[in-house]
Amino acid sequence: MTDDPAGATPIDWAELRRRAIEMTDRSYAPYSGVRVGAAAMCADGTIIVGCNVENASTGIGICAEVNLCGQMVAAGSSRPVALAVVAGDREPIAPCGRCRQFLFEFGGGDLLIELSRGVVPLRELLPDAFGPDDVGTRAG
Ligand code: THU
Repeated sequence: MTDDPAGATPIDWAELRRRAIEMTDRSYAPYSGVRVGAAAMCADGTIIVGCNVENASTGIGICAEVNLCGQMVAAGSSRPVALAVVAGDREPIAPCGRCRQFLFEFGGGDLLIELSRGVVPLRELLPDAFGPDDVGTRAG
């Protein structure tokens, strides 16, 4: 598929939610019991998903959104433009701080994220973000 920088691909939020909910079944969360699923539509129209993966060494588990970013890179897909994240209760959960930073790397401030209060751009959740543009220009 080709990239769609103009954003002509319509965002099917219901489908993103459905795919995120589906991912909560795949979640590996035996320690917290919080099953998280994420689904993003990318600029090329593909949908990429991810779930949280915990570990017996509790501090090293990964969030659904970070997993999703890895899946996206591995799939050779492009930047995420719209993201739904839900917990096992099927309701949206807000991405944690680390996830916001991770998502910014690929989606930038324009990435739309569905929260329980509505859809917001990532720039609202991560103002004054440090990102790829800051690396390399600030050395010295
Ligand atoms: N979790 C996510 O997957 N994404 C977030 O943005 C917040 C937290 C996961 C991590 C952990 O497996 C569980 O939720 C409880 O914190």
